[in-house]
Amino acid sequence: MPQIHALITGGAGFIGSHLAESLLNAGQKVTVLDDLSTGRYSNLAQLEGREGFRLIIDTVLNDALSEELIRESDRVYHLASAVGVKLILEQPVRTIETIFRGTDVVLRHCTRFRKRVLIASTSEVYGKGTTVPFREDDDVLTGATCRHRWAYSCAKALDEFLALAHWRETRLPVVIARLFNTVGPRQVGQYGMVVPRFVEAALAGAPLTVYGDGQQTRCFCHVLDVVEALQNILEIPGCLGKVINLGSDEEVSINRLATTIIELLNSPSRIRHVPFEEAYGEGFEDMLRRVPDLERPRQLLGYSPKRDLKTIILDLAADLNSKRTAMVPS
Ligand SMILES: NC(=O)c1ccc[n+]([C@@H]2O[C@H](COP(=O)([O-])OP(=O)(O)OC[C@H]3O[C@@H](n4cnc5c(N)ncnc54)[C@H](O)[C@@H]3O)[C@@H](O)[C@H]2O)c1
Repeated sequence: MPQIHALITGGAGFIGSHLAESLLNAGQKVTVLDDLSTGRYSNLAQLEGREGFRLIIDTVLNDALSEELIRESDRVYHLASAVGVKLILEQPVRTIETIFRGTDVVLRHCTRFRKRVLIASTSEVYGKGTTVPFREDDDVLTGATCRHRWAYSCAKALDEFLALAHWRETRLPVVIARLFNTVGPRQVGQYGMVVPRFVEAALAGAPLTVYGDGQQTRCFCHVLDVVEALQNILEIPGCLGKVINLGSDEEVSINRLATTIIELLNSPSRIRHVPFEEAYGEGFEDMLRRVPDLERPRQLLGYSPKRDLKTIILDLAADLNSKRTAMVPS
């Protein structure tokens, strides 16, 4: 069988770098296109020099370059995006432009050259819906357009509409992966991701800051469970033209998450509660629960996450610890 050549946009990011490694290990050629806006070279440093690996530092909005890279690849994994609640609130224009224009560029060229493409979407698309677990075909409920938090959700939803429109009109072989909270090594707390933020604080003995009353729940999935699914998803014809939830359905409150991290890491840290408004500004809206229905990925992919919350926390702590050790001058 000829060697498959995969293009990963956003491949220097947290999930993309694990995917790049996994595809290379499976014998594929991998090109990463990333502008390093939230991604880091260090995520891929161990892959540089490996046969079949190439990193291009540029933006997916560079239409001519994206066209060339898509033309020469067999599979496209489109992960490039503005991410993180903090960044989205601080840079709303960039958020919308990167998400929507980037996906438009990718889908247009994939349609033209008939390439299989995965679009990374998000559970944020479900918005403020309260009926959990969320199923892919459920109605969605977002907030007012004056609340920038929802720009991410709506831009990603528009990506989904566009991808499904290409599937409908020309049978573009596209899959939309709606990712729920994904966590693991290489993720950083800097953009507002809760688990790395808590683990970093616990390792430093600093307070773990819980926004709101902490009774809101989330489900956290190990990045390697997600990557395994992403790697298979484009190879299964039944997945094409579909939106597919990926994540964990093990629900935990943010308070419970904080105490689990403190206990597991034997940390002297305390928990401190801060109102959402103080963290994200007036009028910030959050949702109480966010749980995926995993029936579709189970049926189509045989998907079931294998790693639990404890493994996630310990893997993340080991990764952060190794970076802290590496930074200590000899
Ligand atoms: N991590 C999660 O919990 C989660 C949940 C839902 C959805 N997602 C989606 O998964 C994808 C990957 O997210 P992640 O968590 O790895 O975040 P990340 O920030 O680590 O990765 C995003 C990558 O995209 C790159 N990028 C941004 N704009 C770009 C541009 N214009 N051109 C090229 N590269 C660009 C960034 O530099 C970064 O490397 C995103 O599409 C995100 O929306 C992630």
